[in-house]
Amino acid sequence: MTYNSLNEEQLMIMELASDFSKNEILPEAQGHDRTSKFPVKIIRKLAELGFLGHYIPQEYGGSGLDFLSYIIAIEEISAACASTGTIVMAHNSLACSPINEFGNEEQKIKYLPDLATGKKIGCFALSEPESGSDAASINTTAVKNGKEYILNGTKSWVTNGAEADVAIVFTKTEKSKKSRGITAFIVDLNTPGISVGKSEKKLGIKATSTTQFIFEDARVPESSLLAKEGEGFKIAMKTLDSGRIAVASQAVGISQAALDASVEYSRERKTFGSPIIEHQGIQFMIAEMATKVEAARLLTWQAAGLRDKNLRFTKQSAMAKLFAAETAMWVTTKAIQIHGAIGYSTDYPVERYFRDAKITEIYEGTSEIQKIVIAKQTLSEYL
Ligand code: CAA
Repeated sequence: MTYNSLNEEQLMIMELASDFSKNEILPEAQGHDRTSKFPVKIIRKLAELGFLGHYIPQEYGGSGLDFLSYIIAIEEISAACASTGTIVMAHNSLACSPINEFGNEEQKIKYLPDLATGKKIGCFALSEPESGSDAASINTTAVKNGKEYILNGTKSWVTNGAEADVAIVFTKTEKSKKSRGITAFIVDLNTPGISVGKSEKKLGIKATSTTQFIFEDARVPESSLLAKEGEGFKIAMKTLDSGRIAVASQAVGISQAALDASVEYSRERKTFGSPIIEHQGIQFMIAEMATKVEAARLLTWQAAGLRDKNLRFTKQSAMAKLFAAETAMWVTTKAIQIHGAIGYSTDYPVERYFRDAKITEIYEGTSEIQKIVIAKQTLSEYL
């Protein structure tokens, strides 16, 4: 999968996302980072362009595009503003996607048109204060009571938590069973007994909301069960397999923005009588940055291409996320180094890229979790 192999539709989405990101998102990005305000107007416009239901079939109100073009759009959006990229990713990959993949017809008709057109915002509630990497150890319970389930517990680190109308919520229906005792629900967040808890103050992606949800005897109808009881863990893992490709693409976008800024700055800045771009020390950094960005993008596109072909992509998705996230940290560190003192100042965007890059090594599974997944998949190929 290379640039040459992109089809006309994918190139068109790249151009659309790139133009919109440069003209509408980028000018607002520093401001949204400083004020930590959710970019309401931009999200509305992205919805009008079809980016909030990117790969949801048109019959459910989505754009009906392929996964690779979604990944390309996420890179362009995140290069301008990683916060906006995160909001769009959490909505598409973690809320729309599991409903589309695992929901029944009634659930798709009920939820997807409003989500895909941005009338409603979605989120994914898996992590808890005591359960992050060990996703099977969640404690939120769902107890069947007639035609309802009663939910109790606390969810944390929910992206879009403050704005969301609908959440995919993972619960334990059978405590003794660990991963096989996990059950997923599509939950309307205006259900009595659900409140938004602590809102996290973060290092980066500041214009996103990241909150807790508290469930206190929240009664949800039986019809909100996503797939069957006990199938929630596999739904979470499959959803994250896809979501991780989008995180990788976000990391590529941040890295590309840091590389672009570094080239631009080093052409202007002079030391020892010449622009610093003429110094070999700077050129070597640029060369390594460009190589890593390209490699990360190719791994990411490869994983997306496998998903579009309905082939297994768990390993490739984890590899793309691991490599692209580490690339983003490395490239943004070098970008600050190239800018020198000015790179450390909030007057220039590279410090934002550096802060935003860090989350890609953490959310939707840390780099260490990606290594666990890659090792498991790789070793199984030797059996
Ligand atoms: N696809 C399908 N099935 C899968 C799977 C996958 N990718 N991964 C595991 N499974 C299945 C296994 O086959 C196994 O099935 P059986 O019971 O039939 O044998 C079952 O799930 C249990 O698998 P494991 O024994 O491998 O599970 P584990 O408890 O050892 O955990 C893990 C594996 C990879 C470490 C997993 O816990 C994990 O991914 N942890 C990280 C969680 C994570 O990414 N959290 C981030 C949450 S979202 C977020 O960041 C917030 C946000 O809003 C952005």
